[in-house]
Amino acid sequence: MSETNGAVAASSAQSVIDLEKQHVLQNYGRYPLVLERGDGPYMFDLDGKRYLDFIAGIGVNALGQNHPRIVAAITDQASRLIHTSNLFYNVYQGPLAARIAEVSGLDRVFFCNSGTEATEGSLKMIKAHGKDRSPSKFEIVALENSFHGRTLGALAITGQPKYRKDFEPLMPGARFVPAEDIAALEAAVNENTAGICIEWIQGEGGVVPLSDAYCRRARELADQYDALLCFDEIQCGVGRTGTYFAYQLAQPAVMPDIMTAAKPVACGIPLGILAANERAAKSIRPGMHGSTFGGNALATRVGLEFFNILEDLLPSITRVGDYFRAQAREKLAPKYPFIKEVRGYGLMIGIELTISGGDIVTKARDLGLLLNCTHETVLRFLPPYIITEQHVDEAIAILDQAMATQTL
Ligand SMILES: Cc1ncc(COP(=O)(O)O)c(C=O)c1O
Repeated sequence: MSETNGAVAASSAQSVIDLEKQHVLQNYGRYPLVLERGDGPYMFDLDGKRYLDFIAGIGVNALGQNHPRIVAAITDQASRLIHTSNLFYNVYQGPLAARIAEVSGLDRVFFCNSGTEATEGSLKMIKAHGKDRSPSKFEIVALENSFHGRTLGALAITGQPKYRKDFEPLMPGARFVPAEDIAALEAAVNENTAGICIEWIQGEGGVVPLSDAYCRRARELADQYDALLCFDEIQCGVGRTGTYFAYQLAQPAVMPDIMTAAKPVACGIPLGILAANERAAKSIRPGMHGSTFGGNALATRVGLEFFNILEDLLPSITRVGDYFRAQAREKLAPKYPFIKEVRGYGLMIGIELTISGGDIVTKARDLGLLLNCTHETVLRFLPPYIITEQHVDEAIAILDQAMATQTL
């Protein structure tokens, strides 16, 4: 071990990996890469090798690394006040909640620390809303292939057996329907439905956008049966699609009663949010929900600074995302017949293959590009919002090289 910048750093990647393997719970399948620092959209490993980061901490590092305004906000706030608990007020929760309300069209915000906690909050709100109306109103309609988090409530509405199977039986009342099947949705929603939960763009499920018509029908059914409609924007929200939230892609927007978000909200400082309209929010009364860390001064200050920066970035998220898809369709798809589809909105991009994507991810990493593969065959890109067309050109050139090895 050696001293680096006052922190204890391991001397080699192998020693980091070996120590982790001994003492860290072995629940992750990590890539054999130790990242040590970052600068903008680039990451550097322990040997100083540079990587263009197009997965950005699975959509968290929205401004890349080392953004001067985020560094300044963290540094100043760390020296002033990090945490108070929710026994007291801090000066940032109110302004951040007001900002989120303004850009989301919703009324009230609850702060937590992760996506799955935001999902848990939404489930409690939905269940309390149902219970206020009838003891039998506790069903939640969710989609097959969805992902809402790893805690037990979130797993109960996650429509992928691989995440659920080791923990069943889970919370009763979840009903799964195939995405885009309006008849199945209509058959599943009834007087016992307390809520409908939807990712506008399924992320872990393979970057699969839903249609406006489907989400609009979900809205109508929720209204018809006095259920709450919840959009999980944890992966697709907060600027990722070039709009503040993915539900704003539809014109006019299809409004949810509850919206959950997390990943980019505080640029890597853990912060999850649940926003709700008054109708949904009133089912949570004092004492019914809470979090010790949620919305602490550090996280909410950084979140507020992020929203100040985000406003100016939205047009380039759309432009650069469109450029990425156009380049992939023009330069890669005609050359590589295993490319089935290029899709997504803004900087949430999936390239679906007819083959497994793992090997391309590994080759691209060796060549200096970070991405991942979801749903076995979908190359997923969640780059930082600060990237330009030049970064896309660099990524496409690396992908071209990585894909070329597949045809040999
Ligand atoms: C759509 C969606 N919901 C919920 C979650 C869970 O978020 P977290 O890992 O922060 O708990 C994720 C994480 O990838 C997600 O993509």
